[in-house]
Amino acid sequence: PTPTPAPSYSISFAPVAANMNDTVTVPNGYTVDVLLKAGDSVEAGTPYSGGFPTAAVAEKWAGGNHDGMEYYELSGTDANGGGLLAINFELPDFNILFANGQPDPVTATAEQRAVSLSAVGVGVVEIAKGADGKWGVKAGSKYNKRYTGNSIYRASGRAAGLLSTSIKGTLNNCSSGRTPWGTYLTCEESTENYLDPSQPEENYGWVVEIDPYQELDAATKRTELGRFDHENTAYMADSNSRVAFYMGHDGTPGCIYKFVCDRAFSSSNRAQNRDMLDHGTLYVARFNADGTGEWRALVQGQNGLVVGATDPGNVSQSVTPPAPVKVDFNNQADVLINTISAARVAGGTVMDRPEWITVAPDNSAVFVTLTNNSSRRVTDAANPRTVNRHGHIIKFKEEGNSPLAMKFSWEIFLLAGDPKLAGFGDKLEGNINGDTFSSPDGIRIDPKGRLWVQTDHSVPGSSGDSARTIEQIFGQNAMFYIDQATKKSSRFLVGPKGCEITGLAYTPDLKTFFVNIQHPTGDWPVSGQQPRSSTIVVRRTDSQPVGN
Ligand code: FEO
Ligand code: CA
Ligand code: CA
Ligand code: CA
Repeated sequence: PTPTPAPSYSISFAPVAANMNDTVTVPNGYTVDVLLKAGDSVEAGTPYSGGFPTAAVAEKWAGGNHDGMEYYELSGTDANGGGLLAINFELPDFNILFANGQPDPVTATAEQRAVSLSAVGVGVVEIAKGADGKWGVKAGSKYNKRYTGNSIYRASGRAAGLLSTSIKGTLNNCSSGRTPWGTYLTCEESTENYLDPSQPEENYGWVVEIDPYQELDAATKRTELGRFDHENTAYMADSNSRVAFYMGHDGTPGCIYKFVCDRAFSSSNRAQNRDMLDHGTLYVARFNADGTGEWRALVQGQNGLVVGATDPGNVSQSVTPPAPVKVDFNNQADVLINTISAARVAGGTVMDRPEWITVAPDNSAVFVTLTNNSSRRVTDAANPRTVNRHGHIIKFKEEGNSPLAMKFSWEIFLLAGDPKLAGFGDKLEGNINGDTFSSPDGIRIDPKGRLWVQTDHSVPGSSGDSARTIEQIFGQNAMFYIDQATKKSSRFLVGPKGCEITGLAYTPDLKTFFVNIQHPTGDWPVSGQQPRSSTIVVRRTDSQPVGN
């Protein structure tokens, strides 16, 4: 089966050129404002002003390396003029925390660890648009709250008993997602606490549910969604309020998963949804060579998940297969703690570093970015390039457009790269139609069905052409619009020096886009000061919807 073609969506902006400027470049007729920099106040306190903070001070700040985010409406407020923004902080911006950069986590003092851990996690801020059209944080809002690497978290689901009873910290909060009941899912992209190695490993690598309205449960690590280097979540719901959450494991390589909740969610009673993520089935995707695919349940006793199971290991990294490893899955908690191994045992396809997944508003397509995997040596149909330096995007379609489907069809939507790289081997030129890029990472289909892609080609010298840096070929990391029908790529935004572009949220009228600028290295956003990761606002100067 072949996925049905998506409609073509017109877009009117004049694409911007690739560049290496230390600024955010947007099309003519657009404007950029900085909304929330690392070190700005989230909770009441003293913001960053050039000195180095104590942990108690830094706990109130916006953390660093802003990544995934979601916008939430507030009842009684015009959602196009104000709401809540929940933002992930993947890593500290160490340059504003310590004079000498990151302390060695093994020898760091308790205070140094606490400062580092203050700058990861999540921040929720109430924001509003002023009369001049510029957005700002509402200081003192009761919703403004930090969840950090020092905060205490609950755990639920069948692996919760293997975790600490009160878990210290969430960290490596890469990308995120939302639920149909208005909570925020922050994704831990590390299965160990590398900032505080004294913490038990099994406490990390989970999806953490946070209620930005602070009505439902306290922040909870939902173990039923599995433990791996989580990138983001994206949900598909059907007309009966049944829902699946799609998730990628950003590993070299990693699998693609979905979690299907056992029961329908309630649209009328939020509180009934508080344990939705504790009851369901986790599946791993298997991509067959003929364009079909299937979901295999990661359930103890099924698909080889038994005592004495055989994990084939990472079969993609060497033409000589690794020695298989025996693994014991005694119960479902073992499956959830060792999800990476369970997925391989069950026959999941190991992909070229799955980053974000996004679901079309009409459920007709799911897209996943496979950012790159230069260590791939053995290809398969879904991962067709050895030394995949520039990544690709896969599109799949659930049978019947249903979140409950056990089968799907798939195609390679595009292979990233650039024609300048033709002749350097490994098909590095790719097949992008229009503005080229490397290493797709953020991907999101907005409510009008328009596909946006953000890049992270953050590894220097990885272009495949020793005479040209990756920036000399692609420019700095950027955000693109891609027409789903023609696959035409148009560069919408270019970030400042050294940054990665990640995170995309918007108001319901699509007139305000929120984008994150992660780890800039020049002196953006404040000339003459330390660079700081930041959330920016992109608007049209004529107040029309972005991209119209
Ligand atoms: Fe934190 Fe896989 O990006
Ligand atoms: Ca990412
Ligand atoms: Ca990345
Ligand atoms: Ca990153």
